[in-house]
Amino acid sequence: MSTRLNAAVIGAGYWGPNLARNFRASPDWDLAAICDLDIERAQRAADSVGGVPVTSSLDDVLADPAIDAVAIATPARTHHAIVLAALDAGKHVIVEKPLADTRERGTEMVERARENGLVLMADHTYCYTPAVLKIRELIEEGALGDILFVDSVRINLGLIQPDVDVFWDLAPHDLSIMDFILPGGLDVASVSAHGSDPLRTGKACIGYLAMPLAAGGIAHVHVNWLSPTKIRQMVIGGTKRTLVWDDLNPQQRVSVYDRGVDLALQSKETADTRAANISYRLGDTWAPALPEREALANVAGEFASAIREERAARTSGESGLRVLSVLEAASASLSASGSPSPVESYIKEVQEA
Ligand SMILES: NC(=O)c1ccc[n+]([C@@H]2O[C@H](COP(=O)([O-])OP(=O)(O)OC[C@H]3O[C@@H](n4cnc5c(N)ncnc54)[C@H](O)[C@@H]3O)[C@@H](O)[C@H]2O)c1
Repeated sequence: MSTRLNAAVIGAGYWGPNLARNFRASPDWDLAAICDLDIERAQRAADSVGGVPVTSSLDDVLADPAIDAVAIATPARTHHAIVLAALDAGKHVIVEKPLADTRERGTEMVERARENGLVLMADHTYCYTPAVLKIRELIEEGALGDILFVDSVRINLGLIQPDVDVFWDLAPHDLSIMDFILPGGLDVASVSAHGSDPLRTGKACIGYLAMPLAAGGIAHVHVNWLSPTKIRQMVIGGTKRTLVWDDLNPQQRVSVYDRGVDLALQSKETADTRAANISYRLGDTWAPALPEREALANVAGEFASAIREERAARTSGESGLRVLSVLEAASASLSASGSPSPVESYIKEVQEA
């Protein structure tokens, strides 16, 4: 093992203490400081991990030459300024989802990291769960065949956020998972969004996203802060098998169904022959064994490996940007009563430049 790296956690509200605990426990990292504008919060987080220096000054953290990297868990609207300051101070950065509050700001962050030769990683935590790592592996080895549809449901009684709607709060999870598991990443040309604010909170609390996938497939995301029942489920249908991931079922989070519809196409079809050529596969269901490991432990390990190997992280700034591109198109579609809105592609822009 090479020498340990030094990290500081910025933001010690709800999520920051989880980052602090995992950086503290990681064999790759020393937790050098916790920073929050509210010093008492920083102190509580520090006490919960057995004592770490605390500060309310971001400038002090960034001026400390011993600190290699920062993990930023402040509200989305603050990410842009804090990330740019950290990158300009020569620190590697992991930043919470969503990468930024606009695609333009996210693009500037990704470009600054590239110019400065530093790692910018998005904390797309779910991508590092044993379940999602297994799903990615199964899709990559062809166990599901070509992907026909993805249907993702993330609903519960959620905290209505002051600065973002339910799409920007919850859908980054679904979109970043799709970006991680789908061959070629989250490569969608357009998105249609429907949202509702039945309690008049001022922002959509219930949302539906539909995105055509390449080769005729479709991805759908349902997010909801007003559901009294909690559901975290993704169904991924392929030409060979269908996978169901139920994150709230620890006994069997992932099930693979050897079931589906086969359609043998013939050159001259009538309604009758079409019906005759459809057959149903009703095979076995199996559940892959999954290791028990906290996703954030894998996140901390991946961040250190990306820095040491001078490579992009598996959930890079670019992946954060692909998620922002869909979110921004979803907001445009929402304002246009659900009409499909084109998704800007950062990668295409770079290739064309
Ligand atoms: N990866 C996940 O699963 C996951 C889960 C929850 C939240 N998040 C993300 O984490 C981020 C933070 O969310 P939260 O719910 O913890 O928010 P929060 O409001 O509970 O905490 C944010 C903290 O940041 C501090 N802060 C704000 N500006 C600061 C600055 N300039 N310098 C230092 N500290 C500053 C605030 O004082 C506050 O304590 C958001 O981007 C959110 O989307 C990610």
